[in-house]
This record gives sequence, structure tokens and C-alpha cells, in this order.
Amino acid sequence: MRIVKVSLGNRSYAIKIGTGLLARVGNECARLALGRSCAIISDRNVAPQYGKAVQEALTKAGFAAGLITLPAGEMAKSLKTLEACYDQLAAQRLERKSFIVALGGGVVGDLAGFVAATYLRGLPFVQVPTTLLAQVDSSVGGKVGLNLSAGKNLVGAFYQPRLVLCDLDTLASLPMREYRAGLAEVIKYGIIYDAGLFRRLERDLPKLLRRDPLTLAAVVARCCEIKADVVRQDETESGLRAILNFGHTIGHALEAVSHYGKYLHGEAIAIGQVAAARLSAKVLGLSECEVERIERLFQRAGLPTQAKLNAPQRQKILAATRLDKKVSGGEIKFVLARSIGAVEFGHPVPAALLSRAINHQPSTIH
Ligand SMILES: NC(=O)c1ccc[n+]([C@@H]2O[C@H](COP(=O)([O-])OP(=O)(O)OC[C@H]3O[C@@H](n4cnc5c(N)ncnc54)[C@H](O)[C@@H]3O)[C@@H](O)[C@H]2O)c1
Ligand SMILES: [Zn+2]
Repeated sequence: MRIVKVSLGNRSYAIKIGTGLLARVGNECARLALGRSCAIISDRNVAPQYGKAVQEALTKAGFAAGLITLPAGEMAKSLKTLEACYDQLAAQRLERKSFIVALGGGVVGDLAGFVAATYLRGLPFVQVPTTLLAQVDSSVGGKVGLNLSAGKNLVGAFYQPRLVLCDLDTLASLPMREYRAGLAEVIKYGIIYDAGLFRRLERDLPKLLRRDPLTLAAVVARCCEIKADVVRQDETESGLRAILNFGHTIGHALEAVSHYGKYLHGEAIAIGQVAAARLSAKVLGLSECEVERIERLFQRAGLPTQAKLNAPQRQKILAATRLDKKVSGGEIKFVLARSIGAVEFGHPVPAALLSRAINHQPSTIH
């Protein structure tokens, strides 16, 4: 088992990464000096596969553990589901010392984390992420929340978990498309922070695509370490944490314009990161060779690198980038790469350049 520490003073916690961890959830929670009762929050895909194992592990360790099952998918990150969750917690008579176990992907983690942040003015919570995206990204760092019809993640809090348990065995049942989408965030860490990780991904991608446990353990741990390092320096995103949004301004716009139907988040940000790499070449002199390496790695991972858009769609994307949460004072600020492994945030990008990066055509980009 690998352990990564998130150092945030008295809110510090460990991320444990390995196999066979579901069976140890109870013992791990017992070490945290929590209350005797808890609620496992999961979804309709994950609960039938892993809910019982987690419930049994908690019961064996002496906890009273109820299971709350949410609908699966992004729609579950809603006020309606939130209210249903509160009602069930009240029915299970959870009290101030009780805790929440989030068992699922980023949707479950974000919603259950928000429930934990707010129910009875805050209960401790433990993340047990079961998607690659959740293991390397959403379960770490304490952003929790839900969507409104006006937009994604508009309600939320910074609320750190007490422990994150990444059981790599759970990834075996993840559909290949979801797994590839998680790889888009993995590749992101190489681009924004660690050229060595990027080279490792270039070398070990076939093993990763086979979900080889040893390769996965090393890669997931490195991604968590990077996220932990960034969050430690800037928990509430007043600066550095913005680098985690590399490729996300265009990615979010693509998701919004396609009404969250066409692309998974990871697919949209794969396209967004390739576009951001092209912008980086124009604005910061990222070498063409590195732009190509970035594009090639996403392609090899089976991710899209280009959206086929007509002129009105491109206009919509440009308009949507201006609505991105990261826009302040009307100017679109980008995270751009100087080289693989070294990015800078807060770069204004002229609209014309952005438009060309979105609609990349080799003959017109010069
Ligand atoms: N809090 C953060 O910092 C942060 C960061 C990135 C993304 N997010 C959020 O995360 C969410 C996306 O997370 P996601 O990609 O994990 O999506 P998800 O939670 O919807 O999971 C994807 C699908 O896989 C299923 N699933 C989960 N684990 C499985 C398993 N082991 N086997 C089989 N099926 C499984 C789910 O039921 C779902 O259908 C978005 O809402 C996004 O906003 C949050
Ligand atoms: Zn993302």
C-alpha cells in the first residue's frame, strides 16, 4: 500500500492507495477516532458491486453502517438528491459524531462531501473513490458540491475528508470509456507538474490501458502526490491551484455547448488540453515537438483531441469560455505550458488566437 499525505495543519489526512482496501475500510475508520455510526453514500452502479463489502467491513469493526443509494450520473449532483440524502440521514438518526463514507465516482464524492460539510453543521467523512478520475482528482483536495440548473458546481464548499482510500481493485469493473476519461486527468498532471511522469506515461501507457496493478499504483500515487502538493500550497484556489484547470476552460465550454451529453468530462478536457498546448506554442513558445507529444499521448490513450465544429458552434464555444467560472474582470485567463512539466497561470489570450486553437487547421495556424 502507498500512502500520500495531504498536509493542511490540523485538517491533514492520508490518501492510501492499493489493492484489497475495501475489506479494510472498517479498521481504517477505527483508527480515526470517529463515532460508532455512519452512513455509506453510493450510487446505483457502485452500491450493488461494492456496497455490501464496505458495509460488512464497517460492521465487523464495530460500526453501525447504513447504506444510501443515489441514482447514478451527473444528474444526481442536484438539490433534489441532496434533500433526499438529508432525509435518509435523519431517518437513520445520524448524530454529530457519526460520519459519512462516500463510495463511488466524483459525483458521489462531491455530493456526499457536501452532505458531510453541511448536515448537522458538519460530519467527518471518508472518501472511497471507485473511478480513476475520482482516485486521482475529485476525492483529493476538499472541493465538494453540486449543480444547479444554471450551471455545474455552482453550490459547494471546501471541506476536507479525514481519509481517502483508493482501492485499485474497484477499477476492474469501470467501463473502458470512463477509464480513458480518467487518463485525461492523469496526463494533465504530467503536463502541468512532472515531465518525468509524462515520460513514464509515454512508456507505460500500454500497461496502464491493461490496468496493470503495479503501474496503476505508482501512477495513481504520483497524481495524488501532485494534487496534494498543489492543494497544500493553495487550498482555496487563490493562485497556484488554478494550474489544475489546464485545458479546462475550453473543456468546460465544450461540455456546456454540447449540453453535457456528447463528451465525458475527461474527453472534453483532452480536447481542451490539446488546444491549450497549441495556444501555449503561440503565447509561451512551447515547442512544436512537445505539442505533438501531448497530442499523441491523448490519441494513444484513445481520447479525442479535436472537436469537429461548424462556425456557429465555434462561436458558442468562444462565448461559453467567457462564462467560465475562472474568468475574472471580463478577461479570459489561461493556464499555459512553457514546456511539458512547467505551466503558468493567468495568461490572457486574444480571442482570435483562441478561435484558431479551437478550430485547429495546420495550414491556417501560422
Ligand atoms: N471535487 C473535485 O475536485 C472534482 C474534480 C474533478 C471532477 N469532479 C466532479 O466529478 C464528477 C465526475 O466524476 P466521475 O468521472 O468519477 O463520474 P461518476 O461519479 O458519474 O462515475 C462515472 C460512472 O461510473 C460509474 N462507476 C463508478 N465507479 C464504478 C466502478 N468501480 N465500476 C463500474 N462503474 C462505476 C458511476 O456509477 C457512473 O455511472 C463530476 O461531477 C465533476 O464535477 C470534482
Ligand atoms: Zn477535470
